[in-house]
Amino acid sequence: AQGNTLAGQRVLVTAGGTVERLDPVRYLTNDSSGKMGFAIAEAAKAMGAQVTLIAGRTSAQPPAGVELVRVESAQQMLEAVTERFDTADIVVKAAAVADYRPVKQHGQKLKKNGESLTLELERTTDILQTLGEKKKGQLLIGFAAETEDVERYAMDKLTRKNCDLIVANDVGADGAGFNGDTNIVQLYGPEGLIESLPMLSKREVAQRLLIHAADRMASTRRR
Ligand code: PMT
Repeated sequence: AQGNTLAGQRVLVTAGGTVERLDPVRYLTNDSSGKMGFAIAEAAKAMGAQVTLIAGRTSAQPPAGVELVRVESAQQMLEAVTERFDTADIVVKAAAVADYRPVKQHGQKLKKNGESLTLELERTTDILQTLGEKKKGQLLIGFAAETEDVERYAMDKLTRKNCDLIVANDVGADGAGFNGDTNIVQLYGPEGLIESLPMLSKREVAQRLLIHAADRMASTRRR
């Protein structure tokens, strides 16, 4: 089918959770396994793309034949993605990036001191939003991990972060979201809902998503 290939395209994918350190042995993270992002990198490679995969903390095996860049924190992911953004054609942000990090990263292991401890957190930079502000023709694909009002929040993210596509998943639903091998997603574009997919393997979700991405690339080139 027309648009069913990514030959010659440079695809940048992020996957996994970020790790925000409190001290040398303690950190804040989330349940992302990296499976969704890895499946996207693998599918893009199979469609002929040149793929760079920027991965945080993951528990899955990264696909072969892609350039793999390991990062830990949201800040490191921001730097790794920003460095490669100008030369990318398609960027897919499947990573679960921390919204907050500890204000202070202690150089030594924190000692017990009193009955309670209050952690002060500060906002991390929103990577997707940063890319949305500086994009020049790249197709920018974000995810929206929601547990309620999925459509409203997904469309809000698409507009606010200047994305071309948003993959929304209800991460509270059985068979969707973090860690498992399947996902249930809805694809949104600036025009609204494009397609609502049934429960599929993360590999099939990745393929369906990239077919839409390839179609959009082909139609912007034609215009
Ligand atoms: O890794 P798996 O176990 O396979 O699980 C897959 C997944 C549930 C992690 C994946 O499908 C998913 O939903 N990824 C996005 C998770 C997320 O952080 O969603 P969000 O709604 O909080 O963020 C929206 C978008 O902004 C995402 O594209 C995210 O990468 C991006 N973001 C968020 C915060 C931040 N500081 N920078 C960002 O770029």
